[in-house]
Amino acid sequence: MEMWEFIGKVAVALFIARIGWSLLKGVFGSFLAAAIRLNIDVKKTGEWAVVTGATDGIGRAYAFELARLGLKVVLVSRNPFKLQNVAAEINSKYGVDTKIIDVDFTKEDIYERLESEVGKLDVGVLVNNVGMSYDFPEYFTDISDCQEMCDRLINCNIKSLTHMTRIVLPGMVERKRGVIMNLSSLSSIIPAPLLAVYGATKAYVQSFSVSLAAEIASKGVTVQCVMPGFVVSNMSRIRRPTLMAPTPTAYVKSTLRTVGIEKCTAGYFMHKIQVYFIEVAKMHFPGWILTHIVFSQLKAFRTRGHKKKEKEAKTE
Ligand SMILES: NC(=O)c1ccc[n+]([C@@H]2O[C@H](COP(=O)([O-])OP(=O)(O)OC[C@H]3O[C@@H](n4cnc5c(N)ncnc54)[C@H](OP(=O)(O)O)[C@@H]3O)[C@@H](O)[C@H]2O)c1
Repeated sequence: MEMWEFIGKVAVALFIARIGWSLLKGVFGSFLAAAIRLNIDVKKTGEWAVVTGATDGIGRAYAFELARLGLKVVLVSRNPFKLQNVAAEINSKYGVDTKIIDVDFTKEDIYERLESEVGKLDVGVLVNNVGMSYDFPEYFTDISDCQEMCDRLINCNIKSLTHMTRIVLPGMVERKRGVIMNLSSLSSIIPAPLLAVYGATKAYVQSFSVSLAAEIASKGVTVQCVMPGFVVSNMSRIRRPTLMAPTPTAYVKSTLRTVGIEKCTAGYFMHKIQVYFIEVAKMHFPGWILTHIVFSQLKAFRTRGHKKKEKEAKTE
């Protein structure tokens, strides 16, 4: 009996110690490290920041925040009018130069132009943010125009960051300074039934980032994989911020505090807690439980998406 009591106490102590350690790591990365200036000062990495998907949501917030920190910003998105507006706003707010490039990352013939416009700049920061998902969660076999949709998703979420990195990284390595931030997602570490292609593209982002970070760590260039949970944006369709779904600005400010400290980060403290519980669930419970929880939630989103689509079709 005494032995079982002892084992039980040790197990509880280990569990508490594990929670405590994770909490401590999270607090250090999110708050303390930046307070004592251990995170990378992005201003010292170079003259320009390049942000893909820079006119809305998280990308727009990165563009503003990097400009606020004193970097000139190259804004890359599809819509020239939105790009001009964001550039003008950044210029009047922070007085830094901007450059706009209107390209569609679902296309493949855009990289020669990007290379000629970005390749020769002193780029200190590259934010590979652009990404797209499905209109709403759907079974792979039921995605309309599945071939075209998959090509667009893979081009936008995978080829974009691979080729932007190919264009920008050699200059960073030559100058021995630079930071690349790649936007993955929490869905890269959990099963994403009904978002199978999106989840898989985000797992690519994570794998690419972690491997590349190791390859070039000795060359003065930092690669960070950023894995947000829900953030207020067009993509998430969340309009109002909550404790679990911050505004893009709050999210980006929080994530920038972790650059150089955390190689793969959820960025925002409450999302780190989510990651912690996902990891605990993966370690201690059978995999089907987490899959079932996510699947049920995404099925509900799918039903809602279909209802909305039907309603829109009726009003047309
Ligand atoms: N928001 C979330 O909850 C969340 C969670 C996890 C991960 N993420 C990831 O975070 C990143 C940003 O997401 P977000 O929610 O901020 O997205 P968002 O609000 O939809 O903004 C997307 C940005 O990308 C641009 N864009 C979209 N498609 C493009 C294309 N084909 N070519 C060029 N530019 C394009 C859009 O501008 P134009 O329309 O003008 O081109 C816009 O500036 C994505 O990689 C996403 O997967 C987001």
